[in-house]
Amino acid sequence: MRSLCIKVRKGKGESVRKKLLEDGLLDQSLYVDKDGDFLYLPITSVPGGHIVEERDFRGREKEERDYKALCEVPDALRDLLPTSFDTLGDIAIVRLPDELLPYAENVGKAMMEAFPRLRSVFMDHGVAGELRVRDLEVIAGVDDSSTVHTEYGLRFKVDPRKAYFNPRLSNERNRIVQLVRDGETVVDMFSGVGPFAIMIAKHARPAQVFAIDLNAEAVQLMQENIRLNKVSNVVPLEGDARQWVFDLPCADRVIMNLPHSAKDFFADALTRLNLGGVMHFYHICEKDEFQSVLDELVQQARGMCVELRVVRSEELKTYSPSASVFSADLLLVGWL
Ligand SMILES: C[S@@+](CC[C@H](N)C(=O)[O-])C[C@H]1O[C@@H](n2cnc3c(N)ncnc32)[C@H](O)[C@@H]1O
Repeated sequence: MRSLCIKVRKGKGESVRKKLLEDGLLDQSLYVDKDGDFLYLPITSVPGGHIVEERDFRGREKEERDYKALCEVPDALRDLLPTSFDTLGDIAIVRLPDELLPYAENVGKAMMEAFPRLRSVFMDHGVAGELRVRDLEVIAGVDDSSTVHTEYGLRFKVDPRKAYFNPRLSNERNRIVQLVRDGETVVDMFSGVGPFAIMIAKHARPAQVFAIDLNAEAVQLMQENIRLNKVSNVVPLEGDARQWVFDLPCADRVIMNLPHSAKDFFADALTRLNLGGVMHFYHICEKDEFQSVLDELVQQARGMCVELRVVRSEELKTYSPSASVFSADLLLVGWL
């Protein structure tokens, strides 16, 4: 089918695609097309700042339409079928409301039929514990949650039952990559299977990226991902970040992606940050509370005789009806 489209270089394809999606301009009924180093993103209307051309695209409306239509559930429950779900490589992870639990296998089967690229569908029972591993129940396909996920041209071996990975953070990771200056020392305190660390090492020019995780399985996957993506300056470290940071050189950038308890590591991380360095701080709280959390961090820093400035903060995603995941970039300005 013929459509207007935007031509972008492959390296930029993911961020442009997500922006078009957010702005409601991506034509989701058509497949993105590839040719050499370029991607062609079909659009429903013309956004500003892009050169637009016309091209033939393959339709995907059959897949989109089929999943709900194929699913055997009572008509009264059909509206409860989830419209979105996460895909990691060739597996899908879906959350179901209680009413649909007796029909979970039907949902899985319909998704497998409608999206032939899927190898398995898992029902998500949430993330738990210090290691943030996901409780998954297979509802269709093989009961194996390990897969290879592609993000910004990088390949990550992941297994959400063994180690945390969130595909929805890809834009945030890319945002941080753009901030890294040549020669920086970066410490990723809670690195999981290494997506922040490896993306920084691959797409920026840091001196070194130290990537710590308490979960031995996460570190093992990270080591595989370092090899898979052929990066040489990521140093994977297994253990407690609170202890490791004192054995490492001071950092120009510290990433603290442990949103439930990064606050508990704040003081230790701050003592290991160079003047002029930046801390990327992630936190889950009630939607109207993040500003006071940031004020507290700035005060806590004052108590340590340093000036910390919030240079950017953002609500990243909704966590529950009243709470969200937030991110903030905190600059260590200097001594008081
Ligand atoms: C929310 S996940 C973030 C993973 C990664 N940054 C990503 O984006 O995929 C938090 C990670 O912190 C690890 N973790 C929890 N407590 C830790 C600690 N005290 N020291 C180091 N890592 C820890 C967990 O094992 C988990 O992999």
